Amino acid sequence: MTNAQKWVALFLVAFIFLFILAKITRKEEVSGGTNYEVYEEDVVSIMQKQRCFECHGENLQGTGKGPSLYGIQKYWSRAKLINYLRNPKSYASAERFEEYQKKYKEFMPSFEKVDTKNLGKIADYILSLKNSD
Ligand code: HEC
Repeated sequence: MTNAQKWVALFLVAFIFLFILAKITRKEEVSGGTNYEVYEEDVVSIMQKQRCFECHGENLQGTGKGPSLYGIQKYWSRAKLINYLRNPKSYASAERFEEYQKKYKEFMPSFEKVDTKNLGKIADYILSLKNSD
């Protein structure tokens, strides 16, 4: 190899190295930047499995089978809401639940089999749903 060829080879190696390095760092940025969406998606798939959307609507705005879940943070703390999801019947005495019982044929099912961590994620998600008014 001549000196010139050596320089060309060295240059190529350096170029490839930087190219790979750029790819790796970019991937990290992307996954770091979308953490929030991953979290959201996670909640949605948990709730899909538990069929929350079938009764509460695809945007949780309510259907003929269950009430809207918007703006209910005035009634619930996170801990209470988790307990409610585990055992809805124990909270059925609140006034609005009398209305619910007249309006909906089925009760809210209990989700005691769902992992507490997942119930916590669901609670956080529901408590973030604010009415626009
Ligand atoms: C079979 C239909 C059905 C399914 C499935 C269902 N719900 Fe309900 N949900 C209801 C009904 C009906 C009520 C009204 C209370 C009652 O009658 O038991 C209710 C009430 C609630 C409330 C209380 C609303 C308030 O005003 O405080 C929350 C929170 C709730 N549901 C969350 C969920 C979540 C989260 C899931 C999924 C894990 C879910 N529900 C699945 C029917 C359902």
